[in-house]
Amino acid sequence: MKLFNPGGERGSAMSYAALLEKIEIMRSTLRWATRLERPDVDKLLRQANTLRDEVMQLSHKERFVQAVSGDVERRTGEEPVAEPPTGERRRALLARSFVFEGTFGDNPKLLDALEIAEKAAPTDLPVLVDGESGTGKELMAKVIHANGARADKPYVSVNCGAIPDSLLESELFGHKKGAFTGAANDRKGKFESAHKGTIFLDEIGELPLPGQVKLLRVLQSHEIQRVGSDEIIVVDARIVAATNKNLRKLIEQGTFREDLFYRLSVIHVTLPPLRERKDEIPLLLAYYGDEAAEALKRRPVALTARLRDFLLRYAYPGNIRELRNILYRISCLAGETADLVHLPEDIRPATAIAPAPADGANVSLAEAKRVASDEAERLCLERGLQEVGGTVAELARRWDMNRSHLQILLRKHGLHSKDFRKTH
Ligand SMILES: Nc1ncnc2c1ncn2[C@@H]1O[C@H](COP(=O)(O)OP(=O)(O)O)[C@@H](O)[C@H]1O
Ligand SMILES: [Mg+2]
Repeated sequence: MKLFNPGGERGSAMSYAALLEKIEIMRSTLRWATRLERPDVDKLLRQANTLRDEVMQLSHKERFVQAVSGDVERRTGEEPVAEPPTGERRRALLARSFVFEGTFGDNPKLLDALEIAEKAAPTDLPVLVDGESGTGKELMAKVIHANGARADKPYVSVNCGAIPDSLLESELFGHKKGAFTGAANDRKGKFESAHKGTIFLDEIGELPLPGQVKLLRVLQSHEIQRVGSDEIIVVDARIVAATNKNLRKLIEQGTFREDLFYRLSVIHVTLPPLRERKDEIPLLLAYYGDEAAEALKRRPVALTARLRDFLLRYAYPGNIRELRNILYRISCLAGETADLVHLPEDIRPATAIAPAPADGANVSLAEAKRVASDEAERLCLERGLQEVGGTVAELARRWDMNRSHLQILLRKHGLHSKDFRKTH
């Protein structure tokens, strides 16, 4: 069978060939064996497991498109589609009235994630969103809900990492009166509340093993049981789970069930950290500059050149959440224009002590020194140029300086060597 390969991605053909080869090796073992001993069965099983992992990893997107699109056959024979030009994917998403409460640019990794979310939304398939904290996983879950048929049904969010282990099952599945100390009444869980809608299981990696077993059951049979009750309740909740953990590692460590992982990650969306999509920073600065201004009832804050430069280069370990917080902070603290001093102290660069040149008032000592030294530098250059009659090469030789460095200094001070040439 030929697998669907929409982008004709490099490397895929290779990987498929490698997979087919492995399958052939397994087949030939089976074909020639008259009987298999347990160790042989185990070996085959291990091979099958490896194969499954590789298929899972090959391309989440391709598997997904196969799973949901009825038009696989039609596309199979087509020539690989070339990458669309910049801006087109973004425009196309917007033109298809994709609901997204945020901003996005042309970053291919983010567009991949959004396109998967868009296709996943109208299905009931479970989605696993992973990515560092603050990359927009929860936002993505809402996007999936908002773009699907369940948009007007409940969206229920549960943070599996924020509820004590002992209460988590009751929180998710509800409990029967008297099921445990403190269970004074029958109580409905989040799954029941999300009936017909979407349940967002945040920090799924924190779900303890007993809860994982129950969750697996919901995924398989769409049934739950309240804690302490035998009654089976049918629930129809679309599951979107998120994690900032590496679930494969947790599986290796034995704290996350492998079968649950495969069930949850039928569609797998990975959100790139902000440092891997720096091209989106200018958009986000504008977006949150405006949003903060509106929230604080002020005009959008202007940024000094050096603050803007800082914000464009900064690594944002807290990702978009951190960028958003910074914009709210500076919009709150700064007057018309924000500068480095308005940044949170732990990330503020040392140069922030000196106010930017634009802020004429309250000139500090450091700034006074800088101005004086600039002035001295300019006078010196002027005098030098006069002495050599405007010949930069000669001045560089006299001062034992690199000529291009000298040119840079001249440009910095707006000096033109030809103005110093002797005219007769
Ligand atoms: N593309 C985006 N445009 C605008 N805001 C975004 C975007 N992605 C994430 N955010 C915002 O960043 C913050 C963190 O997002 P969230 O979904 O809570 O991240 P996570 O769940 O991964 O920690 C939220 O305020 C969210 O609205
Ligand atoms: Mg979150």
